[in-house]
Amino acid sequence: MTTNYADRFQQKDAVASYEGEEYGAESYSSCIWRRQRPVLEQIVKDFRAAHSGPVRLLDFACGTGRVLSTLELLVDAADGVDISENMVAVARTKCTKARLLVGDVLAKPELLAASYDVISCFRFLLNTEPALRARILRRLRQTLRTPDGLLLVNVHGNSHSLRHPAILWRRWRERGGKSNAMLNEMSPTETRKLLAECGFEVVRQFGFGVLPPTIYRTPLRGAAQAIDRQLAGDRCWNNWAIDMLFVCCPR
Ligand SMILES: C[S@@+](CC[C@H](N)C(=O)[O-])C[C@H]1O[C@@H](n2cnc3c(N)ncnc32)[C@H](O)[C@@H]1O
Repeated sequence: MTTNYADRFQQKDAVASYEGEEYGAESYSSCIWRRQRPVLEQIVKDFRAAHSGPVRLLDFACGTGRVLSTLELLVDAADGVDISENMVAVARTKCTKARLLVGDVLAKPELLAASYDVISCFRFLLNTEPALRARILRRLRQTLRTPDGLLLVNVHGNSHSLRHPAILWRRWRERGGKSNAMLNEMSPTETRKLLAECGFEVVRQFGFGVLPPTIYRTPLRGAAQAIDRQLAGDRCWNNWAIDMLFVCCPR
């Protein structure tokens, strides 16, 4: 079954699955987020400390507010935008000060403010249709403050990671089937090329989760978590991490 990515999180059951399964207390994604969250907070704190005026943040494709509810507390003003009313309904319960907007920023450019100092974009780029990736990034580039704004973009499926064989296997197993599983991957090089084409320069890259997630479903889970905790961050092997965070400036 093929669904437009913009439609994937429209229904309440998809929202409930994202919150309760993808981000259930002991899920793999929650483990990664526990490593990623302090790094992200520090990036925004450092930006604010080095920045003279008030800091305005946009969390693009904010979903249920996982990232926005963390970052809104570290800036002076925050907007979250998403195409799914039901995802944003959950974000409204978590965010205390951000302005939450629903709509398509390509069809309604006025949804976004004229200028943001920081834009975050998590778990969107990888799974949206390739033709939309560049259109959205260019729209974000238009609204990011030049020259010293910051784009924090996450790609949660690295084709050069140790998870790649499992993705190949699942693609083969589910070939021609009805599965709606997201099995996309992007490499660090491909991501950097796309970002450069859309007017961004990557200034730092972080990686989270080096070991295959299947290990997290075995008795070795504790050891895997401990190893991934040690390997997370801005490290020389971050091109092989499953979940990548690119810190970008306008070019
Ligand atoms: C996997 S969720 C990620 C949510 C959040 N950023 C996070 O990391 O938890 C992807 C989100 O992208 C949103 N989305 C998909 N296409 C979109 C579009 N064209 N414009 C804005 N949001 C979109 C979906 O509604 C969904 O909330």
